[in-house]
Amino acid sequence: MGTDKRTIEAYNEYARKWVEINEKGLNIAHDFLEKPAMYSKLPNLKNKKVLCLGCGSGEETSYLKSLEAKKVIGIDISKGLINIAKQNYPNIEFQVMDMEKLIFPTETFDFVYSSLVMHYVDNWTRTLNSVKKVLKKNGKFLFSTHHPSIWGAERIRDKNKRSSLLGYIKFPKKNDCKIYGDYLNTRKIKDIWFGEFKVTYYHRSFSSMIKDIIKSGFEITDVLEPKALDKIRNKHKVFWEIRQKIPLFIIFELKKK
Ligand SMILES: C[S@@+](CC[C@H](N)C(=O)[O-])C[C@H]1O[C@@H](n2cnc3c(N)ncnc32)[C@H](O)[C@@H]1O
Repeated sequence: MGTDKRTIEAYNEYARKWVEINEKGLNIAHDFLEKPAMYSKLPNLKNKKVLCLGCGSGEETSYLKSLEAKKVIGIDISKGLINIAKQNYPNIEFQVMDMEKLIFPTETFDFVYSSLVMHYVDNWTRTLNSVKKVLKKNGKFLFSTHHPSIWGAERIRDKNKRSSLLGYIKFPKKNDCKIYGDYLNTRKIKDIWFGEFKVTYYHRSFSSMIKDIIKSGFEITDVLEPKALDKIRNKHKVFWEIRQKIPLFIIFELKKK
């Protein structure tokens, strides 16, 4: 299935809030873990044509453009976010578009970038085929997504305690067990972020991700499981400590053969 209506509505409805959260630096997982890792994998973009999938309010497109790219186009399924992107970055081209059905001529782009969007679809085949069509030969597709070992876990969020558990406890005398989370089965998860942001995403095992990539014909040229940056060790102690040992996101770098 493609991106759920609930997710599209949430990004439309909370577009301004999403931008505020990012601008206020509240998205520490983006700022101090995911973006630095993604940006560390950018190729030389000078004079290149770049497509940014799920560009949200456009910050990443602006960064990509600053690296002397010839052209950067940002697409997103949320009209609300694209409107903000157009206002904030009038010199960059943005379009409302579904990454599963990209409407660009064959072999238009040298590089395709996508940050934290792939988990909104349950099967990557449509997106991978769509990207492959618009990417030039030897072009790279760099994307980040939820790490399956943590997003398959059982999460509890209340005022006093937040946990994320994947595993089990066996009670041999009772021939019973308590299981936390579900890693192996693809499933749709309804979640609420920042207390009000109602999204739906898909958990998928690592093998199901890899199978879709193999099927698409892309070559995997790198995989990253980034840790939080050391510079936030004191300021965001708990986040830093957890994210030295437990992953949050996974990044794939693919090449069109
Ligand atoms: C977590 S946000 C990431 C935004 C931006 N890339 C960033 O990292 O700040 C996910 C974005 O993916 C967009 N999105 C979800 N499904 C999509 C799809 N099928 N095609 C294009 N955009 C999609 C959402 O509207 C939202 O803007």
